[in-house]
Amino acid sequence: MARATSPSVRRPWIATAVQGWRHEIALSVATFVVLSVAWLIVPWGPYVILVAAGIVAWQRPDLRTRFQRNAQARQATLRLQAAFWVCMVIGRTGAIPTIARVDVTSVGRTYLVRLPAGLHFEVMEANAPELAAALGVRQLQVRPVAENASYVTITEILVDPLPANLCSGLTAAERVDLWRPIAFGVADDGHVIQLGLPEHNVLIGGEPGSGKSVALSQIIAAAALDPSVRVTLFDGKQVELAMWSAVAERFIGPDQEAAVHALEELRTEMDARYASLLEVRQRKITRETGGGLHVIVIDELAFYLRGGKKDLRDQFAELLRDLVSRGRAAGFIVVAATQKPSHEVVPTWIRDLFAFRLAMRCSSSDASDTILGQGWAKQGFSAAAIDPSKRGVGYLLAEGGVPVLLKTPYLSDEEIEVIASRAQKLRVR
Ligand SMILES: Nc1ncnc2c1ncn2[C@@H]1O[C@H](COP(=O)(O)OP(=O)(O)OP(=O)(O)O)[C@@H](O)[C@H]1O
Ligand SMILES: [Mg+2]
Repeated sequence: MARATSPSVRRPWIATAVQGWRHEIALSVATFVVLSVAWLIVPWGPYVILVAAGIVAWQRPDLRTRFQRNAQARQATLRLQAAFWVCMVIGRTGAIPTIARVDVTSVGRTYLVRLPAGLHFEVMEANAPELAAALGVRQLQVRPVAENASYVTITEILVDPLPANLCSGLTAAERVDLWRPIAFGVADDGHVIQLGLPEHNVLIGGEPGSGKSVALSQIIAAAALDPSVRVTLFDGKQVELAMWSAVAERFIGPDQEAAVHALEELRTEMDARYASLLEVRQRKITRETGGGLHVIVIDELAFYLRGGKKDLRDQFAELLRDLVSRGRAAGFIVVAATQKPSHEVVPTWIRDLFAFRLAMRCSSSDASDTILGQGWAKQGFSAAAIDPSKRGVGYLLAEGGVPVLLKTPYLSDEEIEVIASRAQKLRVR
């Protein structure tokens, strides 16, 4: 284990202790001074001040709540500072990290921590288990702060961030604006993960039962609740997306010929959109140009790319490549899922056109890398390591970032029915 020692930053423990308790010391001194001055003016002065403080606290519940929240954050800060002390590896530097900010998340707290000279992210990360044990929490995550190497974030996880069931906010949403990011899941540090769909395609891979169709439903629900968005559904299994058929402009089942025909029509629509963009001298569809987004969802890509007649398969592959590579600026968003994350179904040249890639539980690290990209499994991001009993969990890679472990919300059949009928009403208005 890496040990950090830096004699140059050693300072007396008393100075570090005073630094840690500076808020409490300042508050005590200020209270003492104010009460003493009041007592010097009139002997009953301190009582007046205490009664006035009590009345303010009673009359202003907002101030009370703020005070309570600050006190809780302060208590959490002191606990973490104490943990820094007792963890010898970090404490040995003689200067302990300072906590710059505390945020409450759905699973615990996130601290923005400033490191003293001599400490760096790797040392803090290596000591995460020791800190977690000192704090008595479920897990502790240490992440670097991209903008400044002297800061890290420490996330304290108190409850399971990937619970068996997560409710979708879309069940209660009256309508959605798909030009804005939509909530797609909750990360293992408790943060809500949002996807900005315009100009992005989404690829989802994972073994049978891993939660692909449920994840697709979350995206379809958001698209359906935006009446300006057109929806086309391809369902190689017929029954997975059938509940959304009423809100789709077109629903194509396990019929390769119909699928090729539908993609040809989409290509014609894409060419027409580009022609109108040219007329108005614009390079892409935006909310202002009008024209709207068109979401194309393909569940079970392998059915269309691997099964049936070879010439239909080839036509489908070529039309899909064209749509994914050229459709972005024309407002087309392709969202595809595959049970077989292999190179035959998802060749690299197709995969790389998808900005968002979600690898749900896979049977092997190779399959996981087929979705996320070569090399991620070796770096510790393998969907083969996901507990098979944890459905709806996967690694999401968003363009250029690092994969994030998340859980998608679950929409029951009844909830889908409610959302679909609400979306239908929005669309006939
Ligand atoms: N996010 C989730 N939260 C809770 N349960 C889930 C979630 N996702 C999936 N499940 C459970 O797993 C089951 C299978 O999910 P889903 O149908 O999405 O799998 P799939 O990957 O599409 O499988 P297949 O490849 O066979 O089509 C669901 O019926 C549900 O019980
Ligand atoms: Mg499915």
